[in-house]
Amino acid sequence: MVSTTEKLATHRTPAISDLYRDVRARTMQIVAPLETEDYVIQTAEFMSPPRWHIGHTSWFFETLLQAHQPGYKVYSDEYLFYFNSYYEGFGERIARPKRGTRSRPTVRDTVAYRKHVDEQMLPFLEAIEQKRDAEKILSLVRLGLEHEMQHQELLVYDIKHLLADQFDAPIKPAPAASAKVAGMAEIEGGLFWLGHASQVQSPKSKVQSPESSVVSPESSVLSPNYDFAFDNEKPTHQVFLHDYALDRAPVSNGDFLAFIRDGGYQNFRWWFSEGWEAVNRETWRAPLYWELHDNQWLIRDFSGLHPAESKANEPVCHVSFFEASAFAKWAGKRLPTEAEWEKAAGYDHRTRERTNFPWGDTAPDLTQANLFENGLWAPAAIGAFPAGANAFGCHQMIGDVWEWTTSDYVPYPGFKSEFDEYNDKWFVNQKVLRGGSFATPQLHIRSTYRNFFHAHERWMTSGFRCAQDI
Ligand SMILES: [Fe+2]
Repeated sequence: MVSTTEKLATHRTPAISDLYRDVRARTMQIVAPLETEDYVIQTAEFMSPPRWHIGHTSWFFETLLQAHQPGYKVYSDEYLFYFNSYYEGFGERIARPKRGTRSRPTVRDTVAYRKHVDEQMLPFLEAIEQKRDAEKILSLVRLGLEHEMQHQELLVYDIKHLLADQFDAPIKPAPAASAKVAGMAEIEGGLFWLGHASQVQSPKSKVQSPESSVVSPESSVLSPNYDFAFDNEKPTHQVFLHDYALDRAPVSNGDFLAFIRDGGYQNFRWWFSEGWEAVNRETWRAPLYWELHDNQWLIRDFSGLHPAESKANEPVCHVSFFEASAFAKWAGKRLPTEAEWEKAAGYDHRTRERTNFPWGDTAPDLTQANLFENGLWAPAAIGAFPAGANAFGCHQMIGDVWEWTTSDYVPYPGFKSEFDEYNDKWFVNQKVLRGGSFATPQLHIRSTYRNFFHAHERWMTSGFRCAQDI
């Protein structure tokens, strides 16, 4: 029998109803090991109870049914209130920090709501081609599925915060490091087409001379088997980069331990003013989930409590932008801009073409990147995915940990919102992260993907690699 994840891996863009079934099933696979009591607890203001995620992702599809299925009757006004996240356009909602303050709707009722939405959605999808605005509805369904994949990743963060190693995660054996990854890659600057080149939005007639090392949007249109990008990844536009160097590997726990042991958290000179305030206010002494026992740093993850030394060759995870920036300054480096990151992860300097991934255009498989389907539930050793390296020998840019960049999350020039209140209302005071993590589904990542979080946040799977001017 072919598993859900295998099907998703081999069929990049299956029929929408198959994709719907697979994505919806995976959410329930993730939460399956939880006990009923686990579903309703909120352990911090920034996390959400698992019950809320499974209801909210269904609410998203119910709003679609309300708008596009004639005669659809709302399941429950109370659910519309409880499961709305932040959408002003969909009415009143419970405050985010209060999601864990009520026991109703119960878990059983929430699962029944999910089932009800699926029972409405599947016949709706089967008949979608006959609808007048089929294309618009399909793009909303796809958005709903991408949204659900984002919540699958959030579920992993939130379950880790809730239970960590008490959660019975179905962890698969981790591959060993088979390549030595060291030093920095030197990458030539110049003009670069940043962002996702969708056929709809790319300019019509821009041809560059072959000598210019600039690829025109026509030749950089991403491979047709990769058919989705968020509006915030578009349009493709030219930016200028100076020559730069980029770490071939993410910063490791071993590297970060050296920073800690050098008094990095006690020395204001490495920190931005706001970062230093956060260090003192939150009494940060190490990344989240690091614990000091008998003067030894230990890292707690889904598999238990481990000496940090035993994970010295794995990417550091759960650091804020402030911590990443402080480390970079201490190391005599800096964080890359998102354009520098994207050029390394989505451009082949030999063919001068944009690519979907560091290794080319093929969809990620289990040997190229540590994503959700690998089932590791943790970052892997540096050098464990040589097949995923780029032409400069930069490893693990996709998967393992999201990588902080120094770039502000702002709209690209020429940005056009495709969905109200989805990405466009967050273009302030956040930083861009790139590349996906061990909690990101394979179908949900590409070199142009822009994730974003506030500079102090660190409960997500965030790490980084450094850059340098040359
Ligand atoms: Fe959401």
